Amino acid sequence: MSLLADKRILLGVTGGIAAYKSADLVRRLQDQGARVRVVMTAGAQEFVRPLTFQALSGNPVHTDLLDPAAEAAMGHIELAKWADLILIAPASASCMARLAAGMADDLLATLCLASEAPLHLAPAMNQAMWRHPATQANAQTLQSRGATLLGPGAGSQACGDVGPGRMLEPLEIVEQLVSAAAPAQVLKGKRVTITAGPTREALDPVRYLSNHSSGKMGFAIAAAAARAGADVTLIAGPVRLDTPADVNRVDVTSTNEMLAAAEQAADTADLFISAAAVVDFRPAVIATQKIKKEDGNDSDVLQLVKNPDIVATIAGRKHKRPFTVGFAAETEKVIEHAKSKLARKGLDMIVANDVSDPQGGFNSDHNQVVVIDQGGEQALPAALKTELATQLISLIADRAFGKSG
Ligand code: C5P
Repeated sequence: MSLLADKRILLGVTGGIAAYKSADLVRRLQDQGARVRVVMTAGAQEFVRPLTFQALSGNPVHTDLLDPAAEAAMGHIELAKWADLILIAPASASCMARLAAGMADDLLATLCLASEAPLHLAPAMNQAMWRHPATQANAQTLQSRGATLLGPGAGSQACGDVGPGRMLEPLEIVEQLVSAAAPAQVLKGKRVTITAGPTREALDPVRYLSNHSSGKMGFAIAAAAARAGADVTLIAGPVRLDTPADVNRVDVTSTNEMLAAAEQAADTADLFISAAAVVDFRPAVIATQKIKKEDGNDSDVLQLVKNPDIVATIAGRKHKRPFTVGFAAETEKVIEHAKSKLARKGLDMIVANDVSDPQGGFNSDHNQVVVIDQGGEQALPAALKTELATQLISLIADRAFGKSG
């Protein structure tokens, strides 16, 4: 899957002859699975009609800051928040000057001010305009604020000049965006074991005790760890999820099976992340035949015994002890309960989340957490579990191995 898959890209098109190439750029971005919305400046519309971009992107093109109809459909602040990434291609000298000055005099400039999404610019202009100290100063200002410049390339220009100022080809722009989206290899050479999903305890041949864990968070963490260069073993309870790319999966059912797999993997692991929702109790005996209600089983049918605590067992090792991270799913006093779990289980770090929050928790695609260790607390705000997993991995790599992305 491309690193741009499902990314929401706001493509800003400004006035320049290279605007025609941006029509192809829309297609190339979509080939990567990106979702594209186009904003055109007045200058851009002199070169290419909005209809072209509307047809290619499959979305209405945004052109005016003060158009009541467009604002009613998707207001400019909404659009600014929608974007995961803003790409301006071509970025004219005038556009760069207005962005450097922090102007909000048209829709695109306003969106750039209102959005916290990373900004990428593909400059395109005459070579003398590009080399002018004013443009160079603007480019530097924008870069110093975190914007990324893609190009420009050099060569013969539409005006007949030869030199720097050509917009990169659409494919080159896409390649650069993909490599910018690649996560830092913060876990390169590290072996990571992750538990995920629920466990399941049989009562008899047809029934079991379990919980609502979907496994999504643990699987997302496994995928993020693999993308960060780790050698990943994912110990999965019964879940309906595909194995992430480059991950070794071990399927288990009961808590004792998960413990055995965890003990074995932890022998060679540098990092152990326990994202599983382990069933705390299991039946003292598993009935060999289906338990019948006719057999005088009116109440007290089940006798339960406590399951071993997997993450505490790993954290309590004297030898071959990996850096150990647990999760705390709480419904009240989230931080307080998580801190006491961190201490009681002897963990290095705990990731606390409020499962009573309808925006996050078990079956949701979203989550928000607070990460707690000896050094303090760090809140990671609401995000897709996949994005949160990437943030968690870079935080854990930093604390465990002093590597930051
Ligand atoms: O005690 P509690 O279940 O809230 O603790 C949650 C953390 O402990 C999670 O990281 C979970 O994976 C882990 N755990 C475990 N074995 C258990 C119970 C919980 O590894 N039996």
